[in-house]
Amino acid sequence: MVYTFADRMKHLGTEASFETLAKAKALERQGKNIIHLEIGDPDFDTPINIKEAAVRAIYDGNTHYVPAEGIYELREAIANYVSKTRMIDVKPEEVVVGPGCKQLLFLTMLALINPGEEVLYPSPAYPAYESLINFVGAKPVPIPLMEEYDFRMDHEHIKEKLTRKTKVVILNSPENPTGGILTKEDLKLIADCIAERDDVIVVSDEIYSRIVYEREHESIASLPGMKEKTIILDGFSKAYAMTGWRLGYAVMNEEIAQKLTQLVINSHACTCAFVQIAGIEALNGPQDSVKEMVEEFKKRREIIVSGLNKLKGFNCRKPAGTFYVFPNIKGTGFKSKELADYLLREADVAVLPGTAFGASGEGYLRLSFASSIENIEKALEKMAEALEKL
Ligand SMILES: Cc1ncc(COP(=O)(O)O)c(C=O)c1O
Repeated sequence: MVYTFADRMKHLGTEASFETLAKAKALERQGKNIIHLEIGDPDFDTPINIKEAAVRAIYDGNTHYVPAEGIYELREAIANYVSKTRMIDVKPEEVVVGPGCKQLLFLTMLALINPGEEVLYPSPAYPAYESLINFVGAKPVPIPLMEEYDFRMDHEHIKEKLTRKTKVVILNSPENPTGGILTKEDLKLIADCIAERDDVIVVSDEIYSRIVYEREHESIASLPGMKEKTIILDGFSKAYAMTGWRLGYAVMNEEIAQKLTQLVINSHACTCAFVQIAGIEALNGPQDSVKEMVEEFKKRREIIVSGLNKLKGFNCRKPAGTFYVFPNIKGTGFKSKELADYLLREADVAVLPGTAFGASGEGYLRLSFASSIENIEKALEKMAEALEKL
């Protein structure tokens, strides 16, 4: 049998975190004890009230097809939540629910972008952006995030890279992998760059909006005139430790929402009914667990940043949001991938090379602190020992 594939498959990337996880698992099968700091998945359990709501929903018979765009009560809860947190007026008709924010990103790109058009996106960034831009035949135009600028996006770079072919600007704040966040001032300057362009859409990935420390999360959609130009992507994975439930949403103009719904009808049909009911409980129920998780992340952030800064050749900024640190490792003399491989081999610690997030990630590593303080301390100790051997 000779299998042949569509040409478009040549343009689709993968994610290095899955490769690293596979390598780490292979070592574990050989009896090694690996500390996992490569995964972007909160180590907390999903709050009990959310789990109970899902179980009740199953017993109540919510096990059938539901409307493609999402059940009305969840879209209403999302509309209220986004209206309140972004200070804009969102209607349920402007919300599309999906199995994860990632799927909605995929459908958004399919709905909006023609081959040959250009998409601006942060670099380093979540690998799906570049992969999907290539997949739809568009041109990826990376906007560098500079360490000395706290990994925020400089609007001057956007101004420089905007052309008549630009169709979408992807923003991600708080940002994976750098932990940088865009301030209101940054967002105003970015919005000004596209103020005259009614053919450019901002896709604002705000999946880490609840995982912020000193500063509040700001959305570009909150700025005057920007709601109509923006698609907000958000979801339940990170805020409520619900990565495995697959539940996310997109907020956009009704006209775009109808196109996205058409894509849902033609792809996954609808999002799991009882998971959506659990989502209503997540948004409308008590929020203490979110607060507790963020408090715990904050403690871990202090420990990991100070520990990394003690390692020879490392220099680590404190991330303003997310549960990732992105230390500069140029002082070690290693390339990112070499160092990540060395640490897995010699220290039994799994981390990601910065290059997993684009070429501009060279000279950096990404470590997730969605792992216990005990694990983080142990990992730091083992990394220090391994680096001493060099
Ligand atoms: C920047 C970013 N966007 C989107 C996602 C995907 O979120 P979801 O689990 O809702 O698909 C992730 C997950 O790691 C992410 O880091």
